[in-house]
Amino acid sequence: MEAKEIKARIDFLTDELKRHNYNYYQLSKPQISDFEFDTLMLELQNLEKSFPQFAHIDSPTQRVGGDIQTSFKTVKHRYPMLSLGNTYSREDLIEFDNRIRKQINVDFEYVCELKFDGLSIGLHYENGILIQGLTRGDGTQGDDVTTNVKTIRSIPLQLKEGAFPDDFEIRGEIVMTRSGFAKFNHQRIAQGKSPFANPRNAASGSLKMLDAKLVAKRPLDCYLYYLLGDNLPYQSHYENMSEARKWGFKVSNSMKKYSGIEGVFHYIDYWDKERNELDFDIDGIVIKVNDYALQQQLGYTAKSPRWAIAYKFKAAQVVTKLLNVSYQVGRTGAVTPVANLEPVHLAGTTVKRASLHNADIIEALDLHEHDYVKVEKGGEIIPKIVGVDLKKRDSNAAKISFITHCPECGTALVRNEGEAAFYCPNEYHCPPQIKGKIEHFVGRKMMDINIGEATIAALFDKQMIANVADLYTLKPEDLFQLDGFRSKSVFKLLSSIEDSKKVPFPRVLFALGIRFVGETVASKLASYFENIDSLMNATTMELLMVDDIGERIAFSLQEYFADSSNREIINRLRTYGLQFEIIKNTVEFPDLLHGKSFVVSGKFSRPRDEIKKLITQYGGKNVSAISSKTNFLLAGDKMGPAKLKKAEALNIDIISEDDFFKLINK
Ligand code: IVH
Repeated sequence: MEAKEIKARIDFLTDELKRHNYNYYQLSKPQISDFEFDTLMLELQNLEKSFPQFAHIDSPTQRVGGDIQTSFKTVKHRYPMLSLGNTYSREDLIEFDNRIRKQINVDFEYVCELKFDGLSIGLHYENGILIQGLTRGDGTQGDDVTTNVKTIRSIPLQLKEGAFPDDFEIRGEIVMTRSGFAKFNHQRIAQGKSPFANPRNAASGSLKMLDAKLVAKRPLDCYLYYLLGDNLPYQSHYENMSEARKWGFKVSNSMKKYSGIEGVFHYIDYWDKERNELDFDIDGIVIKVNDYALQQQLGYTAKSPRWAIAYKFKAAQVVTKLLNVSYQVGRTGAVTPVANLEPVHLAGTTVKRASLHNADIIEALDLHEHDYVKVEKGGEIIPKIVGVDLKKRDSNAAKISFITHCPECGTALVRNEGEAAFYCPNEYHCPPQIKGKIEHFVGRKMMDINIGEATIAALFDKQMIANVADLYTLKPEDLFQLDGFRSKSVFKLLSSIEDSKKVPFPRVLFALGIRFVGETVASKLASYFENIDSLMNATTMELLMVDDIGERIAFSLQEYFADSSNREIINRLRTYGLQFEIIKNTVEFPDLLHGKSFVVSGKFSRPRDEIKKLITQYGGKNVSAISSKTNFLLAGDKMGPAKLKKAEALNIDIISEDDFFKLINK
């Protein structure tokens, strides 16, 4: 291609991707599939790398992150980042209003806004282009997180047409959506990482990561609420923010103007009730005087403006009686104390239990038997105990002390140095830990056996399975004993177990659930040792020879293989026909579509069955109807509009025959 053509292609791709970003993130109406989007993005990234002179300053490639930084630069704020005075009481708001009316003798307006619960950010734009993003820091100087900020799709890299000033700063709050947070935490738990306590911590943790590529994957959003600069279009806050919305900023529609404090109270009442319906957390309402001249007249204290105040919602709290403390043993053996409470109504739900997290929390609360405890529902969904009503404590009540032995298997608990949790060390024989191991074993990325948690628990309780090897001895007559199992479901489960015998060795190794042996480590070990016997017989030195295998993993492997019951399980699995060595002839049909499900619909250039066969050959699955679990709709000519609509509604990737062949590299 000639330079002219390359530039034209870069321009075209830039515009296309911007348009699709806008359709997706601002309008929530994507016009192309994620797959098509990613393909265009990859092409643009490659072209920009070879021809940086043609790259646009606001290129959409910045949305996906670039090189990893080593630290953030500290930068002084052009305008200090102030905080707000805050209150929990309505009397204080009346006082705030009275004080203002004493100083101002004309009619004026208040602007009410949501107080977004995230982390504040200042965005600097010059000639409509995002130049810099700074965190609040200490209010005087903050961290330069520009590359991270650029990955947040709702923050414009270049403003749309409009009468924006050449040089201005806009401030707002970066939040993680509640729905995104729930999904993201779920993933973290599945990966064995510790979950974030609430969306605010998750948002601030995300923005402080040095690898923008990772930031790009976090469900972050940004609401703007404050404009600063010399040549703003209006002399009032509400009007400027409404204008900024037209330039492309996300300014919440919840912003409202009122002429008096009664209106403000109305706004507070409304949002106190409705806030649970929002997809992000708020911790109150911000009230601002609208007019800039009046703001100037009211002035500032050392820390905050006198023309604004935050009204914070009280976290819902009630007092109830502690019935007892029970202890749950998790899949990893961690023991979590749970407070069982006299049922009580709190913020729309009945609360019967609250997590006490760990022994330190029980100690800090100085919890005694049958105490009356204050229960609170804050940002987190699970209620927590925040205090004890000492006046109601029975003088004979004994102090609650943490158990010393596992409630499930009786083994003495251990606590590792520097860790808050007590563990049951009986990793391979303690019931919840065994069930956890079986659940891990059957996972999608492991043996991919179609069995749920409840069925595993039922089989375990009926003593039909006591370890992963027992799954392969299940007979139809065993399964018929389970609630709800009919011929069809029995057949489905048994054939799924049978199918798992074809799962390649690296995944079998991962499925065993050896501590610290995740997907990547398993695959490295498998390709190095090629079969389970060489791995089992490997010395520490040999293990350490493998790329990325350190002492921690080596010791864990040796500990696992030293346990005779583990060795027995492996031997049994081997006799049932599971793969314990690398098979080298998978070149023709690599497992490219593993775990992906397809609905194939419409007419194609070749018979539909041929396409379906390719899907299974490459490790994918054919399903007949679209559901939220479907990964791809492979759409041919003359496909029914209902299917298309459903796939669009569920945000399922819709791909063409050509796309499909790209997926399998053909
Ligand atoms: S205005 C000078 N508006 O609350 C006024 N702040 O406690 C600057 N916040 O640091 C702030 N939502 O991080 C304003 N609608 C809103 C807000 C808001 C959340 C945060 C912001 C600020 C803190 C003050």
